Amino acid sequence: MEVIVKNTYEEMSALAARIIAELIHRKPNCILGLATGSTPVGTYKALIRLHKNEGLDFSKVTTFNLDEYVGLSPDHDQSYRYFMNDNLFNHINIKKSNTHVPDGMAEDIPAACEAYERKIKKAGGLDIQLLGIGGNGHIAFNEPGSSLGSRTRVKTLDDQTIQDNARFFKSIDEVPRYAVTMGIGTIMEARQLILLANKENKADAILKTVEGPITAMVPATIVQLHPRATIITDKAAASKLTREYPEEPRVLKLKHHEESCCASTDSPSYAKASEGRPRKRTVRREKVGNRR
Ligand code: PGA
Repeated sequence: MEVIVKNTYEEMSALAARIIAELIHRKPNCILGLATGSTPVGTYKALIRLHKNEGLDFSKVTTFNLDEYVGLSPDHDQSYRYFMNDNLFNHINIKKSNTHVPDGMAEDIPAACEAYERKIKKAGGLDIQLLGIGGNGHIAFNEPGSSLGSRTRVKTLDDQTIQDNARFFKSIDEVPRYAVTMGIGTIMEARQLILLANKENKADAILKTVEGPITAMVPATIVQLHPRATIITDKAAASKLTREYPEEPRVLKLKHHEESCCASTDSPSYAKASEGRPRKRTVRREKVGNRR
C-alpha cells in the first residue's frame, strides 16, 4: 500500500486525475470504478479539464459506480446517477450507455445486484477503483461490520453516514436508509485502488486505515491487503498519521527501476513528470522497491 500526502485538496485531486488519465492513455477501453461524494469532485473537475484542454478521450471508456441510494430515481438530484451525470459524464465524451450505476429502483434488487456483478466481470473487471472514505471508515456503503468478502447487495446506512449525508438533503428525514453497494470483495478484485481523503474530519479514519489493524469495524482497512492500493490525502486528513509519507508516488521516483506492481514506469509522461521533482527518501525507497 502506498500513501501519498499532498499539501492541498487540489493537488490530491490532480494526482488522482493524472493516474486515471495515464490509464486511459495506456488502455483507451479501460474499465473505471467511480465514486460519489464531495471528495472525488475535484478529481472529476481535473479530468474534465484534461478532456477539454488536452483531448483526453473517454469514447471507449466504461465505468461502474460503487453505489446508489435505494428508492431514488436517476433524475432525483441526490441520486448518484444524477451526481455522476452532473459532475462528470455530461462534460466528457463518454458514451452514456458505457456508464453504469447500481439501480436503486429495481423491482428485484438482489437480482439486480447479481446482474451488476456479472456485468463487471463480463466487461473484464475493474482496472482502477476510485474510493472515498466515510468518517466511520466505510468504503462505498460498506458500513462498519460489513463482511470483508461481501458482494454487491443492499446495506442499511449507519447512523453516522445518515448524519454525514444529511447536508445534501433538505432534512435528515429525507436521507434514504438503504443503499445498493458494491461489496468489499467486489472492490478488492479491482486491479488498482485509489482511496482519496481530505479534511480533518477524515483524519481518524485515515489513521486507522493506514496504521491500524485490519478489521471489519473499519472497512477501509482492507485496502492494506490489496497488492496495488494508493491512498492519497491532503495534509489535514493525514494530520493524525504517526509516520512520514512521501508527496509523490514512488513510480515517479523509481523511473529507472522495474516495478511491476506499480503503474506505468514505461509511460513517457510519467517519466517526464518525474523530471526535476524532489527525490526525497530515494535511497530507502529504492531498497524497498528492489525487495518486492
Ligand atoms: P464524502 O463521502 O466524499 O462526501 O466525504 C465519502 C464517503 O462517504 O465515502
